[in-house]
Amino acid sequence: MKAVVTGAAGFIGSNISRRLIADGIDVVGIDSITDYYDPDLKQANLNSLAGKSFTFVNENINEVDLEQVVNGADYIFHQAGQPGVRKSWGNDFTEYLDANVLATQKLLESSKGSRTLRKFVYASSSSVYGDAAHFPTNESQLPQPMSPYGVSKLAAEHLCTLYARNFGVPTVSLRYFTVYGPGQRPDMAFTRFVKAIIDRSEIEIFGSGEQVRDFTFVDDVVAANLAAARGESPHGSVFNVAGGTNISVNGAIETLEKIAGATLRRRYIDRVAGDVVRTGGDTRAIRKVLGWSPQVTLEEGLTRHLEWGNSVYSAVQDHV
Ligand code: UGA
Repeated sequence: MKAVVTGAAGFIGSNISRRLIADGIDVVGIDSITDYYDPDLKQANLNSLAGKSFTFVNENINEVDLEQVVNGADYIFHQAGQPGVRKSWGNDFTEYLDANVLATQKLLESSKGSRTLRKFVYASSSSVYGDAAHFPTNESQLPQPMSPYGVSKLAAEHLCTLYARNFGVPTVSLRYFTVYGPGQRPDMAFTRFVKAIIDRSEIEIFGSGEQVRDFTFVDDVVAANLAAARGESPHGSVFNVAGGTNISVNGAIETLEKIAGATLRRRYIDRVAGDVVRTGGDTRAIRKVLGWSPQVTLEEGLTRHLEWGNSVYSAVQDHV
């Protein structure tokens, strides 16, 4: 069995790769290792995957001969992309178009003639919903992104569905809701907050902190990818992958403080354009079709995120 994981050096891609390797699947990881955040973190992810079941292709999807990479693949887990809701305005949007829309189209083109491909799992995002009209939001509600990032993720999701309809590419799109856990990107809230506990530094909260998020633990996201790859779902399917937390940023900080036995110094600054007021995913569809449901509570997940933060950031401090 062969799986291609795009974005294999990133937070979610490296976790999926690790699990596939443990399940005895040969993984070809592709990643261009951009400098959106410290490339050393991505290198560390890659080092943890090294072994005879893992082949790494250090290339940009838009520039490489993809036919060769995907040739013979049973599964494609398309996790690569330019992340970050808040950075996607202005001139930076080009990067989002290239990495999220064009790269997905290229990957779908190179997959459409495949005789071996069983599933093409695309990492979509809760950002496609924008400020949704109903909660928990189900997949049939009209997506109305609030950020250019959300537009790029939705465009790529539509590409997956239309390649499924026109060419039978076996796509399934998973709309991830704010994923956290060990290895979370350093620009995201929980890694920043965990680091601040260790550094005893101040945290910044964008807006009132009353924005609500459905936070999803990374192991649950990995399990959803495997369920999507192995399960039966019509080509072009779209599912929410949400942890079910329904908690505000302030509430999550209090939970983290309790776990850590520490108080965070908070500074409230302006809300950022593109940041939605609330996310909350209805997971009945994925439960019914693929048998997936979230298993990790916020308390458990944050405890593991903090333990990881201690091992990474305290080690750095001890070194200084
Ligand atoms: C996250 C990911 O970054 C996106 O790639 C993903 O697609 C998206 O989830 C999604 O679910 O669609 P976000 O929810 O903004 O986006 O994730 P965080 O960076 O963890 O932020 C969570 C909340 O905390 C946001 O409201 C943000 O404004 C707030 N925040 C973040 C702060 O108040 N301070 C910070 O330093 C960082």
